[in-house]
Amino acid sequence: MLGFLKRMFGGGGASSAPPEGAASVATPGAPAAVAPESVAAAVAPTKGPPAGDLGAYALDELLGKGGMGEVWRGRRKADGAPVAVKVIRDDGDLPPDKLAERQERFRREATSTSQLTSPHAIRIFDFGATDDGRFFYAMELLEGQDLDKLVRAGGPLGEERVARLIAESCDALDEAHRVGLVHRDIKPENVFVARVNGRETAKVLDFGLVKLLEAGSDGSIFDRGGLAKLTAAAQTPGTPAFMAPEQVKPGAAIDHRADIYALACVAYFALTGQPVFEGRMETQLMFAHLHADPDPPSEKLGKPVHAGLEALILKNLAKSPDDRCQTMGELGRELRALGVGA
Ligand SMILES: Nc1ncnc2c1ncn2[C@@H]1O[C@H](COP(=O)(O)OP(=O)(O)O)[C@@H](O)[C@H]1O
Ligand SMILES: [Mg+2]
Repeated sequence: MLGFLKRMFGGGGASSAPPEGAASVATPGAPAAVAPESVAAAVAPTKGPPAGDLGAYALDELLGKGGMGEVWRGRRKADGAPVAVKVIRDDGDLPPDKLAERQERFRREATSTSQLTSPHAIRIFDFGATDDGRFFYAMELLEGQDLDKLVRAGGPLGEERVARLIAESCDALDEAHRVGLVHRDIKPENVFVARVNGRETAKVLDFGLVKLLEAGSDGSIFDRGGLAKLTAAAQTPGTPAFMAPEQVKPGAAIDHRADIYALACVAYFALTGQPVFEGRMETQLMFAHLHADPDPPSEKLGKPVHAGLEALILKNLAKSPDDRCQTMGELGRELRALGVGA
């Protein structure tokens, strides 16, 4: 039943969101309208793949698949508007507590993302669950490729492009950090290189591992607590090739500067076509993030790299968060000041 559907954004749900080309669809409405209670408790899951039909949306093509979700290219049935729909992947055999955790995390992902207004964040305009228990959110459909696919298919990107795309990603993440959200899963797959109104634009995706922090009276941010438990229980607290040393260390405190390290890893990958550290085993990678010195990008690439860009990337790969840029705003400004991009 449609009554099952909890519309959480913009008051009217799918039928009220403007239809034109995905990039302009976005009218997230008032973030405060997001209901505090968990939708997860309201519906029971069912088995089977989410292909074909999803309530108000028709799903046409699988665009991507990650730790807990599938992203589909689709259409809003009411008016044929193109959309991207992310659905919780249903393995069919998850124990109820694991499924509930996945649903709760998904709800946090949707509510977190919908708070952001940066042109480099993704617009979500619908979130809910179908009557047969599939959780989804509908968002602007991006044309382009994520950085992982782009670099794997076409090789390393030029300096100008890297500096510009990373500086734009800084804008979205700076806004996230200012509202107390640490992404914690910054990696090439989660930075999308989109074409919006004919221009290349970076979009930061996938707040599925987001952690909520709260500003203290001294301006510092600290863990609000609620999500820490959720995170501890989660199977993958990040992606080892792009994880900050403090994220790798058991029990170590992390803050927004872990995203800064991870974004520097993404810049390194985009510029060289290779990750900062390589290793077949996760433990090798983790050890390297904790203790190994990264090769300068120019060495990895085998040709000279803009000295300022190289130095900035290496600075933000510092083991200690204190030795990196302290905010995404600062990193974005430094990138733009280099004069190689943006
Ligand atoms: N709005 C979108 N438009 C087009 N492709 C998208 C969109 N959102 C995600 N994708 C593609 O799907 C992949 C997985 O999406 P993501 O949100 O990162 O899900 P997961 O949690 O499964 O990693 C992305 O890496 C990207 O390639
Ligand atoms: Mg992802």
